[in-house]
Amino acid sequence: MTEIAIIVLAAGLGTRMRSELPKVLHKAAGRSLLGHVLTAATELNPAHCVVVCGPGKEDLTGEARRYVPGAEMVTQAERRGTGHAVSIAEGKLKAFKGTILVLYGDVPLIEAATLRALSEQVGSAQPLAILGFEPASPIGYGRLLRGADGSITAIREELDASLEERRITLCNSGILAVDAGLLWRLLAAVKPNNAKGEIYLTDIVELCVAEGKRVGLSVCPEQEVQGVNTRAQLARIESILQERYRAAVLDGGATMIAPSTVFLCADTKIGRDVVIEPNVVFGPGVTVGNNVHILAFSHIEGAVIEAGARIGPFARLRPGAEIGEDVHIGNFVEVKKAKVDKGAKANHLSYIGDAHVGARTNIGAGTITANYDGFDKHHTEIGAGVSIGSNAVLVAPVTIGDGATIGAGSVVTSEIEPDALALARPPLETRAGWSARFRAAKLSRKKAKS
Ligand code: UD1
Ligand code: CA
Repeated sequence: MTEIAIIVLAAGLGTRMRSELPKVLHKAAGRSLLGHVLTAATELNPAHCVVVCGPGKEDLTGEARRYVPGAEMVTQAERRGTGHAVSIAEGKLKAFKGTILVLYGDVPLIEAATLRALSEQVGSAQPLAILGFEPASPIGYGRLLRGADGSITAIREELDASLEERRITLCNSGILAVDAGLLWRLLAAVKPNNAKGEIYLTDIVELCVAEGKRVGLSVCPEQEVQGVNTRAQLARIESILQERYRAAVLDGGATMIAPSTVFLCADTKIGRDVVIEPNVVFGPGVTVGNNVHILAFSHIEGAVIEAGARIGPFARLRPGAEIGEDVHIGNFVEVKKAKVDKGAKANHLSYIGDAHVGARTNIGAGTITANYDGFDKHHTEIGAGVSIGSNAVLVAPVTIGDGATIGAGSVVTSEIEPDALALARPPLETRAGWSARFRAAKLSRKKAKS
């Protein structure tokens, strides 16, 4: 097996995004464009990964390393073309002897199988292979010129193409696989002899053919090599990804009543016999176990939901929510950084943050863990089998023992022993007949005025 190294071109200016953020850090389905590209690439187990960034875009490092821990960054200080961009990576790959795969950071839908098929085309008789596609409109793309045997003889950019060449519909995706030694040797000979005055990576095709070597071709669907230059194109990528992920969730054995209203992330994991009602949004980092029922209008991110749980409607699970088996989280309940053990219930209008809720505990409507003092967050520890009355405020840090009962409306500021009752409530005062006297007085005053 030949080793693979990947070079990701990501030094484009991204002007048309009208954004402060580097283009490849924009997200689709909760994952950066760069993350999508690297996710596909990692399936080929690359030995090296070099990302070519623009000046001031070095902050791509962190993102790249989330997907490829050993990823290296190089900076293309001046945008002088795709060939120039690739040559910047040479320093990092000088000693590498395998196949180099050149990818675009703004082409996120590319699939691992396509990349594998392309890289497998590279061999000693055919040291270079191009990924081509047949777009609905070839305008603006480099055209693939072919010889009598179907192999590629040159790539002609539209600006440099003759009228006849412009009629060719097979286009260059920009993605290619090439023997490392050949790449560096040929790139050194590329001159900016073209309408744009740039160093074109695509010029290595003619140089390869001139050496008497064949250039191979792989063809993929247009959708896979769609690039992102504008926010509209980003939205288009988002909708394609959502379609892909929804199909995969249905395929995996979950029911979605209205799939087009459910939004998933690239890393959302959904078990079997899960039911997802309409208008549910999954942010990054969600795992849902089997037989979970997620009711309409719930928003879930960074959460693990175990088998048999029931979430929503209108529930919000935030990062660090660990929802145990058969737990019920009901309407207008927010859970953040809290572990809720098996069978516990918080059915209405509560905030549970920085907390642990023991098994079978019932959290009454309107209960709040007051976790923040304006400076620090504090933990609330609630035991198993606890009953917390409605509208309780648990002022953290605080511990409530197993089997304790908290009276409705209580503000709990100190540790409650197991099986104790905590009741913090001013005595109730009643005044017989007060309302009737009050109404009578008001009415007579009103009459006197008119
Ligand atoms: C390139 C190809 C063209 C192909 C098209 C597919 C060349 C000469 N042309 O054209 O054949 O049909 O892509 O979209 O290769 N980049 C850098 N540094 C640079 C220039 C580009 O990092 O100096 C990156 C860009 O960020 C982008 C990619 O390379 O990710 C392609 O650049 P772009 O300007 O879109 O290339 P095109 O001229 O469209
Ligand atoms: Ca382009």
